[in-house]
Amino acid sequence: MSKRHPIIAGNWKMHKTLREAQDYAIKLLERLGDVTQIDVVICAPFTLLSTLKDELEESIIHIGAQNMFYVDNGAYTGEISPSMLVDVACTYVIIGHSERREHLKETDEEVAKKVKVALKGGITPILCVGETLEQREEGRAFAVVRSQVEKALVDLPSEELKRVVIAYEPIWAIGTGKVASSQDAQDMCAMIRSTLAGIAGVVAEEINILYGGSVKSSNIAELMAQPDVDGALVGGASLDPVEFAQLVENAVAAL
Ligand code: 13P
Repeated sequence: MSKRHPIIAGNWKMHKTLREAQDYAIKLLERLGDVTQIDVVICAPFTLLSTLKDELEESIIHIGAQNMFYVDNGAYTGEISPSMLVDVACTYVIIGHSERREHLKETDEEVAKKVKVALKGGITPILCVGETLEQREEGRAFAVVRSQVEKALVDLPSEELKRVVIAYEPIWAIGTGKVASSQDAQDMCAMIRSTLAGIAGVVAEEINILYGGSVKSSNIAELMAQPDVDGALVGGASLDPVEFAQLVENAVAAL
């Protein structure tokens, strides 16, 4: 029996208005309000977090953000701090998503600072790692992902490390409809776990590793069947509450 409690997290990316977020939360609660076998998380844009707090704070559905700054307050125009996220009932935050690494030029060093500060603030970081198609074709996928994991978790004591969630998201599978084969997902997640074991020993068995990239209700079951895949980070398929609820229900059925 795994020591890990699976997680399915939706990443809405830059989508939805206040009204849409409210309607979504109500619909999701109707379907998933009793699901305890999996932690369900909705990672929404900053503008929607307060509304989601109103709808979901008392429920078992968790609220997450998609980014955060690494300082708690001060003269940092446009940034959002960990304590601001706690204030709107966020318990998760996505860190180092490939879209931020690409478009916002986020570096491994910034990602590492954010992971550390999220943990200090009592928020669970969902650390995203993943290779490009070119890196995979050149046979460098494992080396790239191993390096991202090691650089992001540098200097973390193992007691802190076990609260980190890792999301393996191959960039070529994001939003493309090209899901990694469940064997490729398993192989990379197993490599990540052995990297974690090298850093933190047995604690690696307690760390949740998610797969992300074109996950849908129709392919979640075979991903969940892999021993080192502990859940999913879902983009497009999380935008519709009916599809997302079905995806979570199919994941529960596959446990
Ligand atoms: P898609 O599920 O749309 O491929 O997006 C994956 C992702 O980037 C989640 O963070």
